[in-house]
Amino acid sequence: MAPTTQHDTEQYATPSSVWRLRTDAWEYLGYAAKALPGASERGKSEDGLLKEVTRQLRVLEAVETYWAVPGKARVLALRESIEAGDYAEALDQIEPVTRAFSRFGHDTEEQRQDSDGQLSPFDPSIATASDPRPRFEVLVIDDVSETDREELLAEMARQRRSTDAFFYEINVVSSLEDAIIAMLLNPTIQACILRPGFTIPARHRPGEDLRRFLDGFVDPDIASYPPKERILRLADKLKDLRPEVDLYLVADVSIEELAGSVNRRFARLFRREESMEIHLSLLQGVSERFSTPFFDAVQQYSRKPAAVFHALPISRGGSVVNSRWIKDMEEFYGLNLLHAETSATSGGLDSLLDPHGSIKEAQDLAARAFGARRSYFVTNGTSTANKIVHQSIVAPGNVVLVDRNCHKSHHYALMLAGAQVAYMDAYPLNDFSFYGAVSLRTIKSMLLDYRKAGRLDEVTMLTLTNCTFDGIVYDVERVMAECLAIKPDLVFLWDEAWFAFASFHPVYRRRTAMGAAAKLEKDFKDPDYAARYAAQRETLFDPVTGEPGDDEAWLNTRLLPDPDTARLRVYATQSTHKTLTSLRQGSMIHVFDQDFNHLNEETFREAYMTHTSTSPNYQILASLDIGRRQAELEGYELVQRQAYLAQSVAQMVARHPLLKKYFRVLTTLDLIPEEFRETTRPMPLRDGIAAMDEAWRTDEFVVDPSRLTLHIGNTGVDGDTFKHQYLMDGYGIQVNKTSRNTLLFMTNIGTSRSAAAYLIDVLVKLAEHFETERQDMSPWALAALEKTVASLVGTPPPLPDFSRFADHFRVDDQTIDGDIRTAYFATYKTGSCGYLMPDELAEQVRAGHEVISAGFVTPYPPGFPILVPGQVFTAEILSFMAALDTREIHGYDPDLGYRVINELPVRKG
Ligand SMILES: Cc1ncc(COP(=O)(O)O)c(C=O)c1O
Repeated sequence: MAPTTQHDTEQYATPSSVWRLRTDAWEYLGYAAKALPGASERGKSEDGLLKEVTRQLRVLEAVETYWAVPGKARVLALRESIEAGDYAEALDQIEPVTRAFSRFGHDTEEQRQDSDGQLSPFDPSIATASDPRPRFEVLVIDDVSETDREELLAEMARQRRSTDAFFYEINVVSSLEDAIIAMLLNPTIQACILRPGFTIPARHRPGEDLRRFLDGFVDPDIASYPPKERILRLADKLKDLRPEVDLYLVADVSIEELAGSVNRRFARLFRREESMEIHLSLLQGVSERFSTPFFDAVQQYSRKPAAVFHALPISRGGSVVNSRWIKDMEEFYGLNLLHAETSATSGGLDSLLDPHGSIKEAQDLAARAFGARRSYFVTNGTSTANKIVHQSIVAPGNVVLVDRNCHKSHHYALMLAGAQVAYMDAYPLNDFSFYGAVSLRTIKSMLLDYRKAGRLDEVTMLTLTNCTFDGIVYDVERVMAECLAIKPDLVFLWDEAWFAFASFHPVYRRRTAMGAAAKLEKDFKDPDYAARYAAQRETLFDPVTGEPGDDEAWLNTRLLPDPDTARLRVYATQSTHKTLTSLRQGSMIHVFDQDFNHLNEETFREAYMTHTSTSPNYQILASLDIGRRQAELEGYELVQRQAYLAQSVAQMVARHPLLKKYFRVLTTLDLIPEEFRETTRPMPLRDGIAAMDEAWRTDEFVVDPSRLTLHIGNTGVDGDTFKHQYLMDGYGIQVNKTSRNTLLFMTNIGTSRSAAAYLIDVLVKLAEHFETERQDMSPWALAALEKTVASLVGTPPPLPDFSRFADHFRVDDQTIDGDIRTAYFATYKTGSCGYLMPDELAEQVRAGHEVISAGFVTPYPPGFPILVPGQVFTAEILSFMAALDTREIHGYDPDLGYRVINELPVRKG
């Protein structure tokens, strides 16, 4: 059906802002319905109000098409009331909606509290105060008449029972494009029912952003496909956007014939008349995601009476409730925490070290949610998760390629594993004193060096951090594909400590380890891909010898791996506690390893045993289970919102006259050099989902839009001081990371609109403070300040590259890996190491001596080791360290200096 109405749709340009647009529009209408009666007597322009009301109604009419509740029908009824001048009726129609919006956690916690102080759950409906059941929406896709639509809604309403665990509302859209828009805009949709009658084009003309997104996403020939093919394509697209949403197919004819070919995409097929079955399946589908086997088991356990004769005095509150001195522990944490404390060895609950029951089930659900083959819970953070994965894959002597700026847990893990570590340098961002990420060219060159040196079979794993602390995101699929083209059995460890949330947004998901592994697995089975590979092979291998051709050609070609030999062996470690709901230290390891069962299931188990406590904290495990539930049911909504809020803060800083004088949010153009980008937009998501999609499809690196790096050089205050003295002490604002002249702000799934507003407010207050301070300064003080500003906005000594391992720890001079473990343990022998002060060291380096670091030297910030055991000191490293104004440098003693190796150890083998 052709578009029928043209709407003012630039207003809902981006899905990430539509939630705010709806809230604001309904709130405006509420305000107007109160202001309109007698407006002119109070000197207000009735015409002006009505003009804006009409505009907001037009926006809502288009947007609410994609919601069951309040939905388009309510907007049309509201318009009638307003047109009839019945503002009291209009207010009655609006108020339940705005009340429901404010019950949902868009705003502060206080605003979400009911009169009894209870936090209201997410509640998209307008009539739910008395019904605490979680609610969701079901999207039906079919081109039906109004009468058929009403009949369908009535029929499904008849199936409802008061005993149903959840409550849902149904919305019907008629076309494929509308279904895709609804899935993008409306995160409360938890299930879709496809019926073959749907049409193709959107009923309302979509805004420019959505139009561009659809054009890039939907096959332009879709209308010419036979009905079954169209259904399959639509199902694939919907799964691509929101894999967690259950799809059902309702067909009248040939259901048996369809069953064989479409089942993979659909949770179930139905005939039209099977309303009760459909109803029960809808509830069942959501209850499978809602289910939290381990959290439930912990709760049940805590309710059982038990006497404790086990080494856990706080269990059942034993040591606390009868105490005269620590009563406040119970008061503060509550009895449930104590009742839930137990351990596997006391019986009753599953064991993390050998899970067969509720922990196993919870891990399996996590694997489904994150698109992994297997998932493992870890109770000591990603620091431990990384050590487990390294140990499970790397044997002593194996070469591991790793970003030098990776988290310290990798360095320690590689040292423990006895790896030959080949450090790669990320591109530096000298102006801001931190690093970007490792270019694909650097990674490929290194693999090719190993190939040339005849050592490629020693290279076992590539470890990268995605996204980096500062939010630089790799093209994970491309990195893995090109590396596998050179080394088909390379294992990948993606440190996604900061990226657990990314699985729950369609654009982000593509750049996760699990998302990319699934895509590559699909590609490798595709005959078109095989043909492309065969064609490329001809250009890269010598036709006579069959040997790889010139390295330069390999570097300059976008390499395709051989689908017959490449193995997908992909691991991701995630600090669930950093970006999703989980108690501190709750992390997960996700595995997508085609060789796991026959190659390293056992080594993984042993590595897991090596690093996992025999007394894991069950509350952490339960919180991982419940965090997974939340991510599957509302992750999409929350991730959209966190990115949107960050973008709105960035926009505010850029526009506000005083803020922009002192602060600047760094954009893609600052953080990603041009050579790594095809697109040119500074903040793609700000321009809409299509722009974000385009950058995330094409650019080698992109920036996570939920992170803001704020340049503060113009304030004359360095990052560390700004963080502690101005933000923390002054306003209680916490930030994760600073550099010399920047602060990193992260939004997260718990960030509210009011928190974002508070941040802006504080920045304005601080800018005003700097302004007044300058006005009151003497000329001398002002000159001194200008000097400080100049040094903060200027470029300091460049960030040093990794120098090299001392020859003693290397294998040859063609490759760069070093034996970090031997270097580390060299210091255990009495007298084998000593200390040198920076000036003595500089003197020795100038004299051409090879001075070797005995330990890790890590300044905070930036937080990555400048030196590792076995690495040689260079003049660049020393001048960088000399210019650092960081208070905290691990591995450097201001009284003694740097620890250096005096006596080279004997190397085995
Ligand atoms: C990239 C990276 N990996 C791993 C970790 C360690 O994670 P956790 O704090 O969960 O142990 C961090 C911590 O900041 C990190 O930044």
